[in-house]
Amino acid sequence: MSAPTLIRLARPRAINPLRQSLIRSYATSSELKPNLSYTKPTHPDSTASSHSATQNTITDHSQYLLNTYVRPPILITHGKGLILTDTLKRDYLDFTAGIAVTALGHSDEGINAVINEQSQKLSHASNIYWNEHAGELAKSLVENTKKFGGLGFTQGGTTSDANAKVFFSNSGTEANEGALKFARAHGKVTGGEGKSGIVCFTNAFHGRSMGALSVTPNPKYQAPFAPLIPNVKVGKYNETSQEAIDALIDKDTCGVILEPIQGEGGVEQGDIEFLKMVAKRVREVGAVLIYDEIQCGLFRSGTMWAHSEFPIEAHPDIITMAKPLSNGFPIGAIMVRSKVAQTITPGMHGTTFGGQPLATAIGVHVLQRLSDPSFLASLKEKSEYLSTKMERLPKLFPSVIQEKLRGRGLIRGIGFRDTSKPSELVRLARERGVLLLTAGSDAVRFVPALTVSEEQIDQALGVVESCLSIIAEGGERA
Ligand SMILES: Cc1ncc(COP(=O)(O)O)c(C=O)c1O
Repeated sequence: MSAPTLIRLARPRAINPLRQSLIRSYATSSELKPNLSYTKPTHPDSTASSHSATQNTITDHSQYLLNTYVRPPILITHGKGLILTDTLKRDYLDFTAGIAVTALGHSDEGINAVINEQSQKLSHASNIYWNEHAGELAKSLVENTKKFGGLGFTQGGTTSDANAKVFFSNSGTEANEGALKFARAHGKVTGGEGKSGIVCFTNAFHGRSMGALSVTPNPKYQAPFAPLIPNVKVGKYNETSQEAIDALIDKDTCGVILEPIQGEGGVEQGDIEFLKMVAKRVREVGAVLIYDEIQCGLFRSGTMWAHSEFPIEAHPDIITMAKPLSNGFPIGAIMVRSKVAQTITPGMHGTTFGGQPLATAIGVHVLQRLSDPSFLASLKEKSEYLSTKMERLPKLFPSVIQEKLRGRGLIRGIGFRDTSKPSELVRLARERGVLLLTAGSDAVRFVPALTVSEEQIDQALGVVESCLSIIAEGGERA
């Protein structure tokens, strides 16, 4: 594996002493001082906006692409490791990993070799025939889940259940769509036609298809497309009132879906008490529990699944995954316990592309790299290092940043006191060469590639501190 390239930012310029003393006054401790090396923009959006070749391309393309995204005026052409490069040959340090996707970084040599080899052999032949890699990846997912824990398997593989099985899709949304269908199918077999209710939770994000959107209770996403599917109830995430949970999940419930760590919703973690109560009630009423680990799963949280180390009674019956599974090549998957697998028969569900040999050959390679003990040891070190750096932020900027840091491993978030500030931080950091994501209404998310180096963490958090200093001071001056 090639060593990650360090981003080169323009030489930082010192800010004037008056401003420096103002910013220092935001620190609660006299020894703790914010990193002010990056207060000056090095990657202004305006440079890209005035680059005519870039803007001509964007103008041309906007005539043909449906207008669904608000994008800054930059156009990315290359990626290597954690570095993305734009048309002006400016390097950005990518702390978004393509929205928690490129766990092994951009343009990884090992992945490129698999793509090269497999694409010359066979990319696609349909699910009418067996191929070499879909089963291999399914086996790797199940066996690694037995080893690391999850889906009813305690670490080392002990379980009351016989086995687990996998269905491959092409995206996270499609994985959740399938999981909801499987919950319905299981409900009909075990409880009859009326057992069709689905439960989701506040701030969830499960996707944009009609089913997945119906369990994504965000009015901004849902309202334009209503009416959505019926029989969906929304509970309060982390609500531990027994009465509320009993009323929410009843005998007509066939499935309950939740993210053990909410990604888009603001990097909130599910409290173990809440998860245990939900799981217990799900089992009482004979429904199935779906954990959407599309963003937090596959080692991003530090364990294979965000729930790997939870007590077994808080494990789900279905796991959905996608994003990093093929490091950016489209893929999704649903892994189910055997009691769910038994209710699915040929013809009930399917896909043209899902499980094709190219996507799944990449997945086999990715999983083998991510589950390597030395990779996991270094991931732990990096996560702890990031934590240490993040712990400075609420201390340095108590008037801006909420005290409690969010998430774990390399899915982390900082909450803001003022909801207009997360997007301001994202813009300020981008203009200083670091790409970040917002999360929910009040947070900024750090989801770098799992290959991130300590130097890159220093750089990203240095930029964040400089930008938070600007925000604490009341914003950028013209
Ligand atoms: C937790 C979660 N579920 C589902 C999805 C939807 O996945 P996709 O965009 O691959 O369809 C996402 C995407 O961000 C997600 O974070």
